[in-house]
Amino acid sequence: MIYKQTKISELKYINGEFMFKKNAFKCKNTKLLLSAFTLLSITLIASCSGGGDTEFTVIKGAEIGAFNQAQANMGKKIFSEKCASCHKYDIKLVGPPLGTVVKRRSTDYILSQILHPDKMIANNDTTKALLAKFLTQMPNQHLNMIEAKAVLMHLTDVSNGGGK
Ligand code: HEC
Repeated sequence: MIYKQTKISELKYINGEFMFKKNAFKCKNTKLLLSAFTLLSITLIASCSGGGDTEFTVIKGAEIGAFNQAQANMGKKIFSEKCASCHKYDIKLVGPPLGTVVKRRSTDYILSQILHPDKMIANNDTTKALLAKFLTQMPNQHLNMIEAKAVLMHLTDVSNGGGK
């Protein structure tokens, strides 16, 4: 009787352990697959949508290069003629202050806003929010890329404490 009981419990035990191990292994694999899938999805979602880097801009991948004083001076002149009626450096006027705009916005964003404010208002969420706040739409000042980059150089100068 005792012998029989031991045998049965052993058998059950062995069976139980085997089942458990098999199940545990299966479960681990599924978890591994799931987390790999989740990781892949997160990576894909992060690279395809959202994020400041992927916002709409008309100009893409623009660079203004090293600081150049002559270019900054040219930009300062253009700024005073075509922008200063609406933009100051430190305070709001018709539009937002631009003294530190180079620190809060990308080169592509600023050049796009200067050259294509109409397309930005239609597609860029930041610009849309600015319109809602300032209640005026920035008009196209008809600058070319060289002039726009000069203005950006001037704004870089200002943000570094010079150029005002
Ligand atoms: C008639 C007024 C007016 C003129 C002139 C004007 N702007 Fe604007 N600008 C605005 C307004 C209003 C906004 C915010 C709403 C919008 O984007 O349309 C703005 C937005 C901007 C922004 C985005 C600022 C931010 O915080 O994201 C930049 C950069 C800018 N302007 C640069 C310029 C430059 C450079 C010039 C000159 C070439 C210029 N603007 C001329 C009114 C003007």
